Amino acid sequence: MSYSKNLSVIILAAGKSKRMKSEISKALHNICYQPILYYILSSVNKINPKNVFVVVGHRSELIDKYVKSNFPGIKTVYQKKQLGTAHAVLAVKKYRKDLGEDILVLPGDCPLIASGSLKKLVNRKIKTSSAAVVLMTTASNPKGYGRIIKDRKGNVLKIVEEADATYAEKQMNEVNSSMYCFDKKILFENIENIDSKNSQKEYYLTDIVEKMVKNGNKVACLKISNSKEALGINDRIQLSKVEKVMQMTINEKMMQDGVTIKDPGSCYIGGSVKIERDSVIEPFCFIKGKSIIGSNCVIGPFSQITNTKVGSGSKINSSVIIDAVIGRNNNIGPHSYIRPDTVTGENVKIGAFCEVKKSKINNRSKVPHLSYVGDTEIGSSVNIGASSVTVNYDGYRKNKTIIEDNVFIGSDTMLVAPVRVGKGAVVAAGSVITDDVPSNCLAIERGSQKNIKDGAIRYRKKKEMKE
Ligand code: UD1
Ligand code: CA
Repeated sequence: MSYSKNLSVIILAAGKSKRMKSEISKALHNICYQPILYYILSSVNKINPKNVFVVVGHRSELIDKYVKSNFPGIKTVYQKKQLGTAHAVLAVKKYRKDLGEDILVLPGDCPLIASGSLKKLVNRKIKTSSAAVVLMTTASNPKGYGRIIKDRKGNVLKIVEEADATYAEKQMNEVNSSMYCFDKKILFENIENIDSKNSQKEYYLTDIVEKMVKNGNKVACLKISNSKEALGINDRIQLSKVEKVMQMTINEKMMQDGVTIKDPGSCYIGGSVKIERDSVIEPFCFIKGKSIIGSNCVIGPFSQITNTKVGSGSKINSSVIIDAVIGRNNNIGPHSYIRPDTVTGENVKIGAFCEVKKSKINNRSKVPHLSYVGDTEIGSSVNIGASSVTVNYDGYRKNKTIIEDNVFIGSDTMLVAPVRVGKGAVVAAGSVITDDVPSNCLAIERGSQKNIKDGAIRYRKKKEMKE
């Protein structure tokens, strides 16, 4: 990109988040499983600027840590006292030499901004050789936003904050998105002359427009094509509104790419999730992290899938899966809990009310009903009967169970680990298995059964006499 080497970006995220009523910085509140700041920095990175500075203040250590570990090339700058948006930009002045000629200033609370709009903003500034271009939008309900005041010819005169606006100014519906592209030299010439004589006693960056205009500098406006991109988050109601918009954006992109989402309003899918073609996402699903869902899957209602790979053709129904790898054509649920480090082969069934943890289940094996499988390796074509448990914990450490190919485990079996069941063995229902079972053996461990002749008749008589 031609302008990149001349472009620096300043993101203002030092504010106290007063209206959020929060102990953490607003920029770190999540929408669609990622902090607000993530979306802004991702859009900014796409336009490839020379450098990016995030101004931090309120709970700065948390933002610092987040930026360092997730966007290592980006610098944070400390604004000690949060005296207003102009004061926040001034915190970057000490890096003036490193800054490009074009300065993009963005607030840390508008995560819907797309890189295409940022590109247009910078291009407009360059093409019109303006001192500043203000990205604006028209709002049906402009309350809370700074109003753009123009003269009769449509030239920008100033921006007036809601708190300082007259009744007539409040009727204006052209609002400031708080995103600007400035000429570095003219920005720093004017910014220090801004005072805090306003109702909030803050140094408003918006006041720079009037200063520039009065000094004869050229200030232009650019109307954002999709007004939703300018939505800011100041309180938790706006947080939920913006999350809805972001979720719709993610879901619509998925649908455009060939995924059926039956009720997009009820499905929460993270921005880094990948879903392949012809998969169907039923209502009330939550798919997050780095999950990858293969093609032709059906993710049934009320499923929660996190950081999991699901092979094509698999069906997941009302289940929770975390940090697992599910093979092709599996059938999972309803109501199962698949925990980290579980890996399944092809055509595996994990049925109703099962819990599986840190286990490998090979091709065609089944754990159909009410079982716990933990720290276990299950071979192929194994059947685990209902209510069976791998007893992996002895109160001190976790022990392993190995079940080899073609084993049949009868219902209600306790496999007390460490234990191995050899190839082709059968374990009779109700057994408590504490010793290894060699290949092709039938293991049975239970008290012997007595059938007492007419005992049932005598039992009933005794009971009925008492009543
Ligand atoms: C700001 C604009 C308003 C615009 C609106 C759009 C000003 C004075 N007003 O108002 O015209 O319509 O955004 O969303 O700029 N911040 C700092 N340091 C500070 C103060 C704020 O870094 O000392 C940061 C905040 O963390 C926030 C951003 O600047 O990310 C904007 O501040 P905020 O208080 O949200 O401004 P608005 O009242 O929304
Ligand atoms: Ca704001």
